Amino acid sequence: MELVRAKDYNDMSRKAANVISAQVILKPNSVLGLATGDTPKGTYLQLAEWQKKGDCSFAKVSSYNLDEYVGLTPDHEQSYHYFMRKNFFDLVDIDLANTHVPDGAATDVEQACVDYDRIVAEAGYPDLQLLGIGRNGHIGFNEPDDHFARGTHVVDLTESTIEANSRLFDSVDEVPRQAVSMGIQTIMYARRILILASGEDKAQAVRDMVYGLITPQVPASILQLHPNCTVIADEAALSLC
Ligand code: GLP
Repeated sequence: MELVRAKDYNDMSRKAANVISAQVILKPNSVLGLATGDTPKGTYLQLAEWQKKGDCSFAKVSSYNLDEYVGLTPDHEQSYHYFMRKNFFDLVDIDLANTHVPDGAATDVEQACVDYDRIVAEAGYPDLQLLGIGRNGHIGFNEPDDHFARGTHVVDLTESTIEANSRLFDSVDEVPRQAVSMGIQTIMYARRILILASGEDKAQAVRDMVYGLITPQVPASILQLHPNCTVIADEAALSLC
């Protein structure tokens, strides 16, 4: 695991955008694994700025997102489909037809999970997987558990995640209790992983991820076993390291 220290959120975002733009400059038809949340927003904005200036392009990129809430349709403002369009896809030259987000609103969600694994595998898995980290060490929506999930699956969200994510909903009762998430095995198949963390509320999770036991109770700790994983975290997120 390579640990890159950033001064603050903006510095983290700029450093992360540099890694992603280098990826798409060197390989224009890269397969990107993408994440939602406040953490990557600044990275997406920086990339959009550079793309507008002509420094990089996403025209040939295809993307696969990590997760989606169960029951939210793509036009729901809190859905991750909507988040991705608003914070990235609509800001850059990516072809929407080449973007993929798990279908949490499918009538048969279990089948949608199987289908999602198939298309990610057919794409050859991400060249670069971008990740954030939950306060409890989750990645995607892989919550602390007694085993590591392999493929895309339906997850019961923990109270801590429901509470953390309720800031984006009108009330905590509106936060879906379930989500669809890519599994740990699929995440580990990415050729390179870039995980970002900002803020003091992520400090314990970052410490456990980088220096703790490798355990499904801290899903991000499995990344210690990935051969090409870079952590970019700001001073606050590294305050316990
Ligand atoms: C959500 C997402 C994760 C994300 C995490 C942290 O639960 N499913 O992919 O990494 O929250 O979010 P934030 O970046 O807003 O702190």
